[in-house]
Formats: sequence, structure tokens, C-alpha cells
Amino acid sequence: MCGIIGIVGAKPVQDRLIDSLKRLEYRGYDSAGVAGVVDGHVERRRAKGKIRALEDVLAAEPLPASVGIGHTRWATHGAPSQINAHPQRAGRVTLVHNGIIENYAELREALKEKGRTFESETDTEVIAQLLDYELQTRPPIEALKATLDQLTGAYAIAVLIDGEDELIMGARRGSPLVVGYGDGEMFLGSDALAVGPFTNQIAYLDEGDYVAIDRKAAHVFDEAGRAVQRPVRTVAAAAALVEKGNYRHFMEKEIHDQPDACQHTLSAYINPTTGHVHAPGGVDLARFDRVQIVACGTASYAGQIGRYLFEKLAGLPCDVEVASEFRYRQPAVTPATLAIAVSQSGETADTLAALRWCKAQGLTTAAVVNVHESTMAREADVLFPTHAGPEIGVASTKAFTSQVAALTALALAAAAARGRLKPGEEAHDTRLLLEAPRLIAEAIQLEDQIRTLAPELAKARDVLYLGRGPMYPLALEGALKLKEISYIHAEGYAAGELKHGPIALIDETTPVIVIAPSDPLFDKTISNMSEVAARGGRVILITDEEGARNAPAGARVIVGPTCDPMLAPMVYAPPIQLLAYYVAVQKGADVDQPRNLAKSVTVE
Ligand code: AGP
Repeated sequence: MCGIIGIVGAKPVQDRLIDSLKRLEYRGYDSAGVAGVVDGHVERRRAKGKIRALEDVLAAEPLPASVGIGHTRWATHGAPSQINAHPQRAGRVTLVHNGIIENYAELREALKEKGRTFESETDTEVIAQLLDYELQTRPPIEALKATLDQLTGAYAIAVLIDGEDELIMGARRGSPLVVGYGDGEMFLGSDALAVGPFTNQIAYLDEGDYVAIDRKAAHVFDEAGRAVQRPVRTVAAAAALVEKGNYRHFMEKEIHDQPDACQHTLSAYINPTTGHVHAPGGVDLARFDRVQIVACGTASYAGQIGRYLFEKLAGLPCDVEVASEFRYRQPAVTPATLAIAVSQSGETADTLAALRWCKAQGLTTAAVVNVHESTMAREADVLFPTHAGPEIGVASTKAFTSQVAALTALALAAAAARGRLKPGEEAHDTRLLLEAPRLIAEAIQLEDQIRTLAPELAKARDVLYLGRGPMYPLALEGALKLKEISYIHAEGYAAGELKHGPIALIDETTPVIVIAPSDPLFDKTISNMSEVAARGGRVILITDEEGARNAPAGARVIVGPTCDPMLAPMVYAPPIQLLAYYVAVQKGADVDQPRNLAKSVTVE
């Protein structure tokens, strides 16, 4: 999703704006731009495409400013183009915007009737026009408030005004915005990473806040226009440099980060000395008679794995639904339901709306979230953290396994709280769970074998993924990974569903990837593989040693670690991630920033 940086600096900002925008690349974008105060007026430079295109523009026409704003845009209203790139400009106003203004069409018409002409197709230009209009009769901060009062939708903005040489104004509703405190300099950013190169002293603005920063201070106002203070904290993530190290792509690095990510996550739930597992935040899991999980994309597949575990281990009924459906369907919920939003970013618009809806129904809400300062983390009653660290690749990997780790620990904690475990079982199961990081590391060692499959798979037009039980959501996740980074059409199916339709797709050109470590359902999956093989399908079986002994003739077999079925969704995730990764590399695709995708989808 779009990224924002603003600097009221004591020294030139051009390179620093670019540095920050590069850190925001992971969010996904299709154009970029900067603006700064040059000799008392605001100038801007913009380019379609990658930041290097913007750097070329700046090389030809530098921006010698010490006050400036920058933006990476992921197109919503209007195609990716230089003219639609931010900063957008109207009269004295130059601004950048994340989010969507829902009433922009009405506002645009009303402004046109006042004689205003528009240059771009963006909703953002409407904010600039409106603010410029309001500036005719009021000082900047009052004009900003008057503008915000007319907007419906989600936004984070940063604004420069001609004639106000040491001022950047900002506002947030629905999209996050942080204020960074430097030494004689101040910053605005769409997240802590944006201002990370300059400061780790950060204040998160609240919903509806707006702000004016100069070199020395931030003047923050709440939605009602009252001057307020927002606490300044030292944020570790802001200082940490997110580097690829020796890896070619962030995704590859993040696949390799998974043992640590899972270990750090599990340590928030399990006391390895006592073997006790608990839900963070003092939540008593015994008081719920149902769990409702809401999430999007990969996080929703982690949620589906969570459902198997809550029901099997804790006997706790659990529903899982994609948030974009849940939020609009007026679901029937019971008061003793624990609503859990699962999200890497904690900012996904649909998941956040579903979480807020559950809260409004009076349910206890929890957020399994990786970004602990995110909106979901702050708005949920309780944070169930994952500790994957910053995930930069658009394709989620370590966040997924960390979500599964957290949900597995929570399911065990619910089992213990509901009296479902025999004496000694809690310690036994947590000991097992703590083996996950090592087993994940073993699974990652399949990398060389998996790489050899890539050239053939890269030629496929369609790929099917099959699994049963918790391996079924993993099949869905495998298909999503392949689709999003290699652009090959892929579908995940419950293995038992194959004969109800998808088997018609099978021929010798369709690889079928079966994820089936040996478990009580393994024999049934073998039958499904035989059905595929009988129709000329090419089976790639990802299993363990025992499964390999029973593999059908002709199947290509990848042998992963032997593990308890409770751990299998985590342990068998790296092989399917590596498969998608090497197919994408084989195809020469942009692995970390796949086309059309954003890291955090903060619009509907
Ligand atoms: C994962 O590879 C995807 N890019 C996407 O499905 C993602 O998981 C989804 O948009 C949810 O994001 P969140 O976890 O930040 O809420």
C-alpha cells in the first residue's frame, strides 16, 4: 500500500526522502514522487514505475530543499501514471495521501461548480483542491480541519503549503501516520520504518488526529480540534535496518528466518521451564464457547489451520471467514465468542472492519498481529503477538508460520483451560511444540531438492495443490504463493473433493502437488493420488519417510521431517514456499514486489 514520508529538516532532504521511500517499497507501489520547499515555493518531482525512475528525474532536476514530502503510490483511483502520482497539487497546496476518499466524486463535482479544474483522476487531488479552497479564508491548520470535516473515507496525508516554508501538516483516519522526533528536525511517516533512518522516537497518531510539525515540535489535535499530546516512545523496529543480507530476495531471507520467527513467537506463549502454555493478556480461555476467526489471504489460511486445532485439541467450536465477507453479512454471533483477527500488518482494511464490528457487538476481541503498534493491535481488547520481525516480501512467509505457531499455542492453552488435557499432557504437548523451530529448519534444508523441480513447474499453465485436514489450508496457501509471485494459475483443493469436479482438469500437463505427511488420513490421500496418476497427472508428493514408503508409483517424492501432526502445518510450509519462490525466480519474476499486489491492503 502507499507509503508516506515528510521531513522538516535542518539539512537537505532529497536523498533522505529517497532513502525512506526505498524502505517503503515493500508495501507495493506503481509510482513515486517527492516535493520540497525551494526558494520559498513548493516544487515536485514524480515518476511512474520504480523509485529508480524518480531518481533519474531528480538527477536531471534536483530538489534542493530541506523541507519535503515523499510518497510511493499504489493506484486506486486513476491508472499508474506520472500525472496521477503523488504529490498532488492545487493552488498553494501540495500533498500526498494513503487511503481512499469515498465521497470524492461529490466533492469533485461541487468544486468544479466553484470553477476549479482538475488535472488528475485521483481522489487525492480533491483533498488538495478542497484545502486550497479553505485556505482562502482561514489559516492552514483551521483550513485543514475544515477540509477533513468534509471527507468520508480512509486517509493519511502529509501536506506542504506555498508560503509556509517550515511547516508540514498531516492527518490520519483509517490509515496510520506517525510523528518522528529528531534533533532539530521533525518527521511524518506512514509507519515507523519510514522514519527509521532518522529517529526511533515516535508518536502514533490516533484515529481522527491531525498535526502540524515544524523543526522543533509537533502540534497534535484530536478529531474535535482539541490540542492533545500523544506519547512518544522508543521504537525498536524504527532503528533496525531491514536488510537482505546474503540472500537474493527478501522472500528467500524470510523463508530462512522462520525457525527464529516461530521460536520467538512461541516464547510469548510457552514457559519452557514449567511447560505451561497461556494466552497473553490474562485472557481466560475457559470463558468462551466459540471462536470466530477473521482474516484475509494468507492470514485466513493460518486461521483455517487454527480452526482444526481449536476444535481438535480444545473441543472449542471455531468458525473462520474471510473478513471481506464477514464484515458485510451480519453474522449471528453469541456473546461468549472470542473474536480473533489474524493479520501480519494489523492494518488490513477488511480485517480491521470485521474486528471493529465484533467489538461493537460486545465480543471480546483479540488480534494475532505481527506489527505490534498497528491499529488492530491497539484496538483489540488483547494482543496475541507474533514475533516474525518486519516482513518485507509481499508474499507472506514467516508471518504465516508465526501465525500458525501462535494459534497452535492458543489452541493448546484453550485445551488446558477447558480441562481437556490429562496430567502431564500440557508439558508434553508444549515440549512437542517447541520442537517446531528445529523441524522447520530441517524442512528448509530441502531447498536444493525443491529448486530442481522449478524448471519443469515453471512451464506449467495450471497447477493443483491437494491436502487433507490441516494440510488442506496449506494446499490453499501453496496455490496462493505460486499464483502471486510466479503468475501461474494454481488452485488448492481438499484431496477428497478432487473427484467432485477438479479431476476433469487432470492431464499430463498439469502438475499436482500433494502435501501429505503420514497421518491417519494418509491412505485416503494415496487413493486420491492414484486417481490423478491414472489420468496421466504428474504427482509431486511432499511427505515424510513413512509416507515416501507408501508413495504411488511414478510420483516424484520430496521427503520432509517426521513430526507430530500438530506441527505439520508449520513444518510443511517452507517446502511449498520454496517451491513458489524458485518457480518465480526461474521465470524471472519480481519476487518481492509482484505485479498488482500490495503488502498491506488498507483499502477495500
Ligand atoms: C500473502 O502472501 C498475501 N500477500 C496476502 O494474502 C496477505 O496475507 C493479506 O493481504 C493479509 O494481509 P495481513 O496479514 O497484513 O492482514
